[in-house]
Amino acid sequence: MTTTPAVPIHGREHVVGLAEELPPGHRIIAPIGRHGVGVYNIAGRLHAIANYCPHEGGPLCLGRTRGVTQARPEAPGGAVEVRDGEFVYCPWHQWGFEIATGEPVVEPGVSVPVYAVRIDDGKIIVTA
Ligand code: FES
Repeated sequence: MTTTPAVPIHGREHVVGLAEELPPGHRIIAPIGRHGVGVYNIAGRLHAIANYCPHEGGPLCLGRTRGVTQARPEAPGGAVEVRDGEFVYCPWHQWGFEIATGEPVVEPGVSVPVYAVRIDDGKIIVTA
C-alpha cells in the first residue's frame, strides 16, 4: 500500500485507522473538521478528500465510486467507462470528482480539497 506524498502537506496529523482495515476498493470517513474526510484505498494507493461537495454541500464521500465515461466510437454505444473506482459521485446531484486530485469530472474550476496520507507503523495518518 502506498501513500500520497505529492499532495501539499499542511495542517494537523490525524490517525484515522489501521492500514490493514482499509483494503483496496474500500473507504472510511474520518471525523476530521466539520464534515469529515474520506480516505480511499484505490488499488493499493491511499487518498484523502474532503467529505463536502462544492455544489450544495452534500456528503460527497457517501456517494458511489466508479470510473468516468470516455467516448469511443468503436465501442457499443460509442462510449466506455474507464479508471474504475477512481472517482466519487456526490449522492445529492451526482457531481463527480477524481479522488486523487479533487478535480471535477464536468464542472471546471470547482474542485474539492485533498490531503496527504501516509502510513506509519501500520497506522493511516491524514494531514488536514
Ligand atoms: S450537493 Fe453534491 S452534487 Fe449537488
